[in-house]
Order: sequence, then C-alpha cells, then structure tokens
Amino acid sequence: MTQTPVKVAVTGAAGQIAYSLLFRLCNGDVFGPDQPVSVTLLEIPEAIKATEGVAMELQDAAFPLLANLEIDEDPNKAFDGANAVFLVGAKPRGKGEERSDLLASNGKIFGPQGEAINDHAADDVRVLVIGNPANTNALITQMHAPDVPADRFTAMMRLDHNRSLAQISKKVGRPVTDIEKMTVWGNHSATQFPDVTYATIGDEKVSDLVDNAWLEDEFMPRVAKRGAEIIEVRGKSSAASAASAGIDHMRDWVQGTPEGDWVSVALPSDGSYGVDEGLVFGMPCVSRNGKWEVVEGLELSDYQRKNIQANVEELRAEREAVADLLR
Ligand SMILES: NC(=O)c1ccc[n+]([C@@H]2O[C@H](COP(=O)([O-])OP(=O)(O)OC[C@H]3O[C@@H](n4cnc5c(N)ncnc54)[C@H](O)[C@@H]3O)[C@@H](O)[C@H]2O)c1
Repeated sequence: MTQTPVKVAVTGAAGQIAYSLLFRLCNGDVFGPDQPVSVTLLEIPEAIKATEGVAMELQDAAFPLLANLEIDEDPNKAFDGANAVFLVGAKPRGKGEERSDLLASNGKIFGPQGEAINDHAADDVRVLVIGNPANTNALITQMHAPDVPADRFTAMMRLDHNRSLAQISKKVGRPVTDIEKMTVWGNHSATQFPDVTYATIGDEKVSDLVDNAWLEDEFMPRVAKRGAEIIEVRGKSSAASAASAGIDHMRDWVQGTPEGDWVSVALPSDGSYGVDEGLVFGMPCVSRNGKWEVVEGLELSDYQRKNIQANVEELRAEREAVADLLR
C-alpha cells in the first residue's frame, strides 16, 4: 500500500449501527477499493470493552484496506487529523424523558465533539451526524466549530431518501436505480417531507405513475414512520439500513453524485427555499468536486411550502430548546 490512509473517526463504535458501518467502511465502500483507511473508534468508558471486541472482529476480517485501528475515549484524540467523522454515538431517550431533555442531553455530547473537531480535525474534515436528534445535534456540533466551514457539517436524511426509493420501487415495480430526483426535505423526524414532485422514472413523473391517495395516505406516513415500524417488527431499531445510508452519504460526498440525479442531505441552510439560515435542513443536493451543493431554482407549490414550513417550525423549536448550548 503506497497511498496515505484516509483518517476516519466513528463514534458510538460499540453500538448497532457502527457494527455494520465499520465493516463497510473498512471494505472500501466509502473511499474506494484502492484507498486505505486508518480508523479510530470513539466510545464512552462503559463501552470500551465491547469496542475492543468490535476491534478484534475488524482485525479478524483481515481487510486489505485497514491500515490502522485505534480505540479512544477522548474526542480530542480520536478526531486528531480526521478527514471524515461519523457521529453515530448518542444518548437514547430515557423513560419519561421529553424531547427537550433528549435534545439537551445530546447537546452535551455534541458540543464538546464539535470543539474537538474544530481544534484537531484535518482541514478537509467532513462530518456526518447520524445520532438522533440528528439535525439539531449537527447544528450544535457545527456551532462549536467556528473555524471549520459550516458546509462540512451534515446530518443524515439518506435513510429517509433510500426508504422512499424502496417504497416507490415496490409500488411501481421498477428498480430503485431507475428512480431519480427524490427529495426528503426537513428534519429526520416524523415531520419530514418525502416529496416526489420532481421524481422521475425515465421520461415519466413518479406523480403520474401513482395516485395521490397512495402518496398521502400510505407513502408519506410509511417513510416518515418507518423507524417505528422496524422497531415493532424487528424488536430493535434500524441499524444495518442506517449504516448503509451513512456509507451512501459519505461515499457520494467524496466521490460525487451521478449526473442527472440528486440525493437528500441535511446541511446548514443558506436561506434557500425559505428555510432559516443555519438550520440543518434536508434539501435536494448534488455532490461536485467533493462539496455538497443545494439544487437551486426548483419551483415550490403551496402544498410543498406548507410541508417545508412545518419542518422549519419544528427545527426552530429544537434550536430554541438547546439555545443555551449554542454559541
Ligand atoms: N439519522 C438516521 O437516519 C438514524 C437512523 C437510525 C438510528 N439513528 C440514531 O443513531 C444513533 C445510534 O444508533 P444505534 O442503534 O447504533 O444505537 P446503540 O445504542 O446501539 O449505540 C449507540 C452507542 O453510542 C455510544 N455513545 C453514547 N454516548 C457517546 C459518546 N459521548 N461518545 C461516543 N459514543 C457514545 C453508546 O455507548 C453506544 O454504544 C441513535 O441516536 C439512533 O437514534 C439515526
């Protein structure tokens, strides 16, 4: 191996999502089949032993691309020189806890992690927040890293995007790869707006291939509440599909999106489409030259505006709930 390894940090390394994500990452699914990776696993002290077990399995897989593997409890060390950071670790909602409590307890994780990224990560760092509530966690992280360009901080809408492709594919009997220009706007929550307005299959519009009742009564609620459905059926929250979406997100960010298509990414708003500047909001994006660019100039109907606005309001309220953690 002659190429310098890309340095990647993954938090929540002993958790369910990381258990799938790490193996895909070390297999070359993000940076390509010729790019070695140096991986650091960040966990809290109670989970270090389990993380050592994950590290043992990663070693046992004998990945040709895994140049180095470390474990750390300190984000300042784990993010040192990192080119890519997957922020997966988060505190789950406790019994009787309100959403505002969840936001606040996670804010205490993501603030210090943002500072560590600010002070120690590589100049080209890319950050993907998967830990929930992902959009506002990403906002907190970004606000604590003032020296890093804001567009390096993203939250994951790709699972919602992929879920949308899967549901449409099943409905119309065409492969997911035929569906282009799907958009999931807003927050990774049940308020999200899976929007087929621009989605196409070949020369046809998806909205012409399915009826409105299916879109409103089945498709949208199903995509938005798919996480709960998986928990009900599987008995555990979605993990491998979330990991796969995280891999897709980071791969496209690094390697680019296919010509003629776009994907859904939550990133700090530049004010496009009436979204408050700074809110980390799901948008249609293409990746060009290693950067996410929002697809501009799409026309919005009143119906779309209403659904986008509901997400703006929810994310404003989340921002308000963690105001004392932002600076
Ligand atoms: N954005 C999405 O689409 C999406 C989809 C699915 C799950 N999620 C979220 O991803 C997160 C992880 O899910 P999971 O199933 O892997 O959970 P999990 O409970 O199996 O694992 C989470 C891990 O994070 C660790 N952790 C907690 N605080 C940490 C900290 N400060 N630093 C480092 N590690 C820390 C825990 O010890 C645990 O091992 C959850 O918040 C979940 O809600 C997001």
